[in-house]
Parts: sequence; structure tokens; C-alpha cells
Amino acid sequence: MEPVRVHITTYGCQMNRLDAELVAQRLRTSGARVVDDSAGANVLLFVTCSVRAHAENRVFSNIGALAARKRRQPDLVIGLLGCMAQQYGGRIRSRVPLVDVVCAPGRLAELPDLIEAARTKQASPVVALDPPRDADAFAAADAALDEVETCRPLGGPSPGHAFVTVMRGCDNFCAYCVVPNVRGPERSRPPGVVLEEVRRLVGQGARQITLLGQAVNKYAGREGPRTWDLADLIEKVAETPNLARLAFITSHPRAMTERLIRVFRDVPAVCPYLHMPAQSGSDAVLARMNRGYTHRQYADRVAMVRASRPEVAVASDFIVGFPGETPRDFEATMDLVRRMRFSQAFVFKYSPRPGTFAAEHYADDVPMSEKRRRNQALLDLVQEICGEDNRRFVGRRMTVFVEGPSPRAGKDPGPFPQLRGRTPGNRIVVFDGPAGLAGTEVDVEVTDSSPLTLFARLAEAVCPGGA
Ligand code: 5AD
Ligand code: SF4
Repeated sequence: MEPVRVHITTYGCQMNRLDAELVAQRLRTSGARVVDDSAGANVLLFVTCSVRAHAENRVFSNIGALAARKRRQPDLVIGLLGCMAQQYGGRIRSRVPLVDVVCAPGRLAELPDLIEAARTKQASPVVALDPPRDADAFAAADAALDEVETCRPLGGPSPGHAFVTVMRGCDNFCAYCVVPNVRGPERSRPPGVVLEEVRRLVGQGARQITLLGQAVNKYAGREGPRTWDLADLIEKVAETPNLARLAFITSHPRAMTERLIRVFRDVPAVCPYLHMPAQSGSDAVLARMNRGYTHRQYADRVAMVRASRPEVAVASDFIVGFPGETPRDFEATMDLVRRMRFSQAFVFKYSPRPGTFAAEHYADDVPMSEKRRRNQALLDLVQEICGEDNRRFVGRRMTVFVEGPSPRAGKDPGPFPQLRGRTPGNRIVVFDGPAGLAGTEVDVEVTDSSPLTLFARLAEAVCPGGA
């Protein structure tokens, strides 16, 4: 049989991007080649997201579009991985009959065997699902994933930047959210395992580490008799020599403790960036969403964070058109946005997800046209505020972490490509500079701004040819 050549397509959140890295690593160690060009592959894997119907529909249509190729290349193996795999199981065949492997998030370490079973037609489809929501039942699968994660080489979202899982699963059961159903119960990785992984990645050249969890600030990792919270873990991770930046996503407002807030002030490596989704500014909607805080409590948390370190950039997610959201409820969300001055906000139209509390108990009663209107109004307001706040950076010198060429690179004539980097508060900065700066920190002077981007030039000290 031909050697395995895998191509991976990833949808959704950072957790999925890390899962895709782990899948690639696991398959490489089993002898497979991971290829960038899907046309040359004989195994096509899709790491999927179930958070909104839109994300699922893209996967359905992209896999559906492979029908002609599958007829030409009957040995082609198509694998559906991640959240949709757990959500649909073998039933996925009624939506996309082409799928050969269905593999839930906790079972990814088994992929080489699953692919082999599909290639030798041991089952059709080959299905590996997670156990019911019980942390003990996940122990063996987590240990296998830990092993893959701990041994992986530095790859990551951009050169010099690595994601590290600290928690898997979620126990919050926000009424709209499918994640607790598809990613299982909350499990914290032991601090020793996280620290070892961070040290290895930094030893390989990572300068920035982002700790990942669905509600990362609920971290409770056990080491012997002691339980570490996220502040304990951050303090220890920050001691890693040569680590320049440490970030953590995503935080739940209810789990934002004073102790954790103090790390912004006390731990210099911690980025002044907090992704803490509010979801709504209306107390009635927040209660129906089962978020466990009010508009006032959210605002108080942000005030505490800014008292700890004034320049912390706070980013949020919002859902518009949640069941029963009235124009007044929406106004309360707009009001929260005006008061909090978020540095970034991701806005989503409510999408009922099968198996969630909201889908089963509340009618999806805000018409799509109204969801669209609220979505646009909120985005416009966020843009206006970001535009005003970004203008304050013009003329300032800032240290940016260089991700690599910007999506526009190569379109302009000039000696250097356009590079893209991030400020400590995660704002996007573009500037011209040598491509070799990717993965390092450089100083720039901000010359102009737009709501989403700061424009800059390299500060002279690092500009080749400069003084
Ligand atoms: N509909 C719309 N948006 C959702 N999100 C989660 N579930 C849904 C849903 N059913 C959004 C939330 C979350 C982000 C990752 O996706 O804002 O923070
Ligand atoms: Fe979903 Fe809420 Fe868990 Fe976030 S905290 S993953 S929104 S259930």
C-alpha cells in the first residue's frame, strides 16, 4: 500500500489549531508525510468546529465537493476530526456519505490506527468517539494526548510562538454552547507536565507562550497534595529563562480572581491582554445564558484589571440575537461596549446548537434580519472605539513580536516585505522590515493607525542601514 500522505484543513478556535499540530506530529511519528498541497495527498483530514451552524456548513460543503475526486481516487481517506465528529458520530454519513474516519477530540492520538483501519476497510466509517462526560473516563485518552503534545517540535501559530494546553473540556454549560458536550468535562493538566512542555518549547526557540483552555482561569492542576490555580502556574511558567511573553486565553469573567488579576501587575512577562468574553451586556440575557455574572460585575472585574495595570487591552466576544433579546437588552450590550472600550470584539449571530439548553428550551425568536442589524451596529461601534483608541498610539515607540510577512507582503515594491507583528496588548502592527525578524521582538515607531491596524516603521536601532 502507498505511504500515507496527509493534508489537514483546520476550522475554528486556537484549540483546533493546536489539535491540528498534534495530529500532524502524531502522524509524522507513525511514518506518514504531512503535505501542504491537498492534491498530492491520499488522506484528507478536517479538524472541525461545531460552535455555530455556519462553521459546520462550510465543512459539509467542502467535504461534499470532494465527491468527484473520491470517484477518481477511491482509496482517498477522508477524516472528520474534532468537535463535529463527537457531535455527529457515525450519523455524519447521512449528511456527508464520503467520510471514512470520524475521530473525537480526545481520541486524536489514535489516528494512525484509525486511518490504517479505514485504508484496509475494517469498518466504514471507522468511528472513535469520546466517552460520556466523566473526567476519569478521559484519563487514558488525555495521557496519550499529553504524550504527543509534550514531544512535539516547535511549530505553532507563528515562528517563535507556541500554544500550550493547560485545560481540556468545559463544565460551564453556557446555555448556547456546544463545547461541554463535544469536548467533555474540565480536566487540568498537571503543572509539571505544562512546565516541562514550556521549557522544551522555549529551549527550541519559542519566545512567546500562550496557555490555552476554554475557561483557562478555572485551571486547577494537581501536583502531589497541592492544587495550583492559574496564577500559581503563570508565576512558575514566567520564570522560564528566555521567555519574553506569556499570554493566556480564554478567561471566564466569573473565574477572574483578585490573585489572577495581580499577575498583570506583578509578573512582567505577562502580556497586558485579557480575552474575557462578556457575550451580552443585559442582565436578563446573561442570566438566561447561564453566564453567572451581571453587567455590573463584569464592569467591576475590568476595572480591577485596569487598576492592576492600566494598559491591559481587554477583548470580548458577543452573541447578538440570543433568544428573547429585546432592543433594550441589545442597548445594554452597546452600553457595555461604550464603557469598557474593548481593544477587540468578536461578534456572532446566535445559532441554535442541537443538544444545548438554549436550543431545547428557548425559541430562536430574533429574526435573522434583526440579528444582522445588531451584528453590524455592534461591529460599527467597536470599530469606532478601536479607531479612537488606536490613534493614541501614533507617535509612540512600541515593542512588537514579529509574526512574519503580512497578508499584503509582496504586493508593494520596496527593499523589504511588509511584516506583521503584535503589540504586548495583541494589537496588529504592520511595518516594512527583513523577513528574518519573524519570531523576534523589535521596537517600532507607530506612524499611523486604522481601527484594526497600527502602521509603523522599524525604530532606527534595529533597522539595517540605519544608525
Ligand atoms: N451561537 C453563536 N455564537 C456562539 N458562540 C458560542 N456558541 C454560540 C452559538 N450557539 C460564540 C461565543 C463564544 C465564541 C467562541 O463563539 O461568543 O465565546
Ligand atoms: Fe462554551 Fe461557556 Fe464553556 Fe466558553 S465557558 S466553552 S462559552 S460553555
